[in-house]
Amino acid sequence: MSGTGPVVVLVGPMGVGKTTVGELIAERLGVLCRDTDADIVAAQGRPIADIFVEDGEEHFRALESAAVRTALAGHPGVLALGGGAILDPDTRRLLAGVPVVFLDMGLREAVKRVGLDTARPLLAVNPRQKWRELMEARRPLYTEVARAVVSTEGRTPEDVADAVMDALELKTV
Ligand code: S3P
Repeated sequence: MSGTGPVVVLVGPMGVGKTTVGELIAERLGVLCRDTDADIVAAQGRPIADIFVEDGEEHFRALESAAVRTALAGHPGVLALGGGAILDPDTRRLLAGVPVVFLDMGLREAVKRVGLDTARPLLAVNPRQKWRELMEARRPLYTEVARAVVSTEGRTPEDVADAVMDALELKTV
């Protein structure tokens, strides 16, 4: 995959700022930023919440795995993955050797940023508890695939972008 794959892959929970930070890094590197959630929405012609409601989470995860595989193989810029993409063992295997950065935050910051966002179906009911449960299950997986972990607590997206670039020793063009 080297040479054609992404220069950075951002993973981490919903609302941590993967897309915002990804866009900033892409701008600095003079490459494009791609987001697998947006790829799925474009291909399906419907929002993620509708895919969950109409076809269920399992179907969404299958679409997501395929979208990640395609992007990893053919996108040479910055890639932001949906928060649950790392649940798939095949995806985790594909991420081995790829420059992956885990953007992290705690519950308090998550509540502040994501709030009661109904566009995110997994947080539609009891968001605080749900977020805590999701992170307990996922933190080891984010850590497993990541080459570096960057905390976003109390940092602006620009600061986070700096930290990601430092962690991967990437230089602004
Ligand atoms: C999800 C995260 C979302 C989206 C879907 C499921 C998750 O992406 O893929 O709602 O399981 O954490 P973002 O992390 O970009 O919000």
